[in-house]
Amino acid sequence: MSLEVLDAWCSLDITGASGASDPGSNPGASVFRIFTWKNKRSYAAFPRCALPKVKGRVFNTGKPPVSEERQHSLNRSPYQHGDTLPKYKIAVLPGDGVGKEVIEAAMIVLDEIALDAEYLYGDIGWEFWKKEGNPLPERTIELMKETDAALFGAITSKPKEEAQKELAPELRGKGLEYYSPIVKLRQLFDLYANVRPAKAYPGNPLNYRDNINITVFRENTEGLYSGVEYYPVPEELDELLSSHPRYAKFKGKDKAISLRIISEKGAERIVRAAFDFARKNGLKNVTVVEKPNVLRETSGLFVRVARKVHEDYPEIEMWETNIDAQAMWLVKNPENYDVLVTSNLFGDIISDLASQLVGGLGFAASGNIGDDYAVFEPVHGSAPKYAGQYKVNPIATIRATRMLLDYIGEHEKADRLERAIEMVVKDGKVRTYDMGGDAGTLDVAREIAKKYSEQ
Ligand code: NAI
Ligand code: MG
Repeated sequence: MSLEVLDAWCSLDITGASGASDPGSNPGASVFRIFTWKNKRSYAAFPRCALPKVKGRVFNTGKPPVSEERQHSLNRSPYQHGDTLPKYKIAVLPGDGVGKEVIEAAMIVLDEIALDAEYLYGDIGWEFWKKEGNPLPERTIELMKETDAALFGAITSKPKEEAQKELAPELRGKGLEYYSPIVKLRQLFDLYANVRPAKAYPGNPLNYRDNINITVFRENTEGLYSGVEYYPVPEELDELLSSHPRYAKFKGKDKAISLRIISEKGAERIVRAAFDFARKNGLKNVTVVEKPNVLRETSGLFVRVARKVHEDYPEIEMWETNIDAQAMWLVKNPENYDVLVTSNLFGDIISDLASQLVGGLGFAASGNIGDDYAVFEPVHGSAPKYAGQYKVNPIATIRATRMLLDYIGEHEKADRLERAIEMVVKDGKVRTYDMGGDAGTLDVAREIAKKYSEQ
């Protein structure tokens, strides 16, 4: 028996199910409705039927393209009767370009893990900007609100002029402006901690050195990326600022201004997150990376707050460095650092440097974590030049998946996945181009899934 569901909101693939009584008046028909995010977790309109326990098979109608292989894996849906609803709901946002491919790879691994979860696919990215004038449609935000966490691939974004040019003709001239959906998500869900681990996997030919294991905590919602920028600068603001002695020479000139906003609360919670992480993982040091000798007020506040937070973690050493020097130290003595914590722009830069020490974008994963929600993603973008080729390294996204497992409390599965990644890297038989191999994106995922199940 095969049930195919194409409801207005979502579809649930349970091909191969047996024994479920048909819910409709037409025996043998294969349509039922599930109400997911409107009615939270109730399968309200599935009458006269045992509620199926389905692992990870829910799609919204904006279905992502599914490769043959993925379709095959979907057709093998595990299906049991019973009354239980899946334990987790995970939003899956593939996005553009290779984002779709690395998410497909991650789903192969998640299939193997057989997490008790539903996966709800959401629309995000350039495609939706072009079609709808909104790269993060409201329905995606609503979908996310019903889930425990999200796994995000990557999006394409382009400069202002191109954004306007590629907009559907009927949407042009309506004052629509492109914005970064990922930055919006961070602000919307207050995902203040951007956690970016950089770990040298033994046997990775791309390691700059072995024994590197650094986790960068980057403040994710304020700093220079607060989005408070002016061009042209309004006259009132120009006037107000001219009371500052160092501003006089800029007054009246053609210029742009971006504000670096650092709040005490913002600094406090990111530093605390870094120390908590260090404590939980038995790490020895946390380095606060700022520039208080020049950015006396903003970096000054950040460091002052950090010292205060440190009082609650006496067993952990706190070091203070300047961002420029830290770039140098990271290349000179990367083994010395356990945790780095810093503001938004500095963290963006220093985490890229840290990831290049251990294999670059193919390995760089990140979590955007708030008090109530988290989005996990590879650091890389949509890599348009490789899109459609299933060629890029999925390890960054699979590592992001591992972080997600940890976040939802599935530590055993997370550790097991980490070991599977370690084995595949060390083995060296299945590697993508960036590691000198010729395996495809999904080959690596399959190999990791295999190592996962062999443990
Ligand atoms: P990118 O990260 O997409 O790719 C740069 C290069 O890095 C690629 O050409 C490739 O050589 C390498 N690379 C990236 N991912 C890889 C992987 N998994 N395995 C092996 N090699 C990999 O950055 P780019 O080209 O600057 O930006 C492309 C698009 O992505 C732009 O539209 C940009 O705005 C967007 N972007 C989106 C991000 C996101 O969704 N979070 C982050 C960065 C860029
Ligand atoms: Mg970046």
